[in-house]
Amino acid sequence: MKLIIAMIQPHKIEDVKKKLYEAEVFKMTVSTATGCGQQKGYSETYRGVITEVNLLKKTRLEIAVNDNFVKPTVDAIVAGAKTGSIGDGKIFVLPLEQCIRIRTGETGGEAIG
Ligand SMILES: Nc1ncnc2c1ncn2[C@@H]1O[C@H](COP(=O)(O)OP(=O)(O)OP(=O)(O)O)[C@@H](O)[C@H]1O
Ligand SMILES: [Mg+2]
Repeated sequence: MKLIIAMIQPHKIEDVKKKLYEAEVFKMTVSTATGCGQQKGYSETYRGVITEVNLLKKTRLEIAVNDNFVKPTVDAIVAGAKTGSIGDGKIFVLPLEQCIRIRTGETGGEAIG
């Protein structure tokens, strides 16, 4: 099992969700985050104006998947989020030790899917 964490541009979340649904990935956690990458925040634009703040608004996705879903999930995020501009985002893939569905007590791959 893997935990995929993606930081994307907030305006790309609907495109990413569409691509994830096409890849049959329906379970996700989405939250609002702030962050900066190698431009340290300064050279990106927010709603058309160059921002003076260091921490830019980003959308954070967390998706736990079985190993065979890592590539389809990553590919879907890239397909939905990529514009080719700086700040498109980043994807982290982490080993995931365990997953427990609280209602049934199922664990591991059965609980994830
Ligand atoms: N090494 C990192 N550790 C933690 N978070 C990161 C890291 N790199 C990027 N992020 C997060 O991802 C967001 C998007 O990063 P961003 O796409 O700007 O990456 P980048 O490395 O600067 O690439 P680019 O040059 O394409 O902009 C950042 O705002 C930050 O929240
Ligand atoms: Mg950047």
